Amino acid sequence: SSSELDGLKHAAAARAVEEVENGMVLGLGSGSTAEIAVQVLAERVAKGLRVQGIPTSAKTAALARRLGVPLTSFAEHHHIDLSIDGADQVERGTMNLIKGLGGDLLREKIVASVSDRMIVAVDETKLVDHLGGNRPLPVEVVSFGWQTVFDHLVAIGCVPRLRLAGDTPFLTDGGNYIVDCTIAEIPDPEMLDANISAIVGVIETGLFIALASKVMVGRPAGVEVIER
Ligand code: A5P
Repeated sequence: SSSELDGLKHAAAARAVEEVENGMVLGLGSGSTAEIAVQVLAERVAKGLRVQGIPTSAKTAALARRLGVPLTSFAEHHHIDLSIDGADQVERGTMNLIKGLGGDLLREKIVASVSDRMIVAVDETKLVDHLGGNRPLPVEVVSFGWQTVFDHLVAIGCVPRLRLAGDTPFLTDGGNYIVDCTIAEIPDPEMLDANISAIVGVIETGLFIALASKVMVGRPAGVEVIER
């Protein structure tokens, strides 16, 4: 049920927030699990923890502000100690991820790429042996000429679909489009990431390769910690 799933997300998010230490600059992820992490973090801030967060979406920024988590930006810090985020799929053996179902992949990837450590919090339904298959791979593209990106994606073996919000294209926080690519299980995520990134008009793919340092997996029996 959804409340059981919420419990698993909460346990994973709370475990991730345990790794936060005084004085850290944090990356604040997006999506329901990352939002729970911001709530748990806010409780520690209320008790005196001193941290500053760089949010990966306007939604997370608004939540952090409302709960009193101090925010900063890349204007002040080019380096993040720890980022905490959710994921749509986690490949068990490699900790490679698919992200972006919520639409925030570009900012999340920028934040993850400059973080010393990235902790991913998920419920156990996100854990897979191989990425792809039942979940599409989101790809952020420039709105101009998105139709030309489609042809390349089809050639690579994806079934692309432009993400909509009602009748019009969904817009990311950066004002770009998202193409959701249905694809069979991905044998080599690193190569697929390189192939899709090479298409002119593609900004970023939802494949997060070798960015996660630890994954907290909420399970009914407790939180499983996966790390290198
Ligand atoms: C946001 O675009 C995604 O990358 C999120 O990390 C992902 O959708 C996870 O969200 P949930 O925690 O709500 O599943």
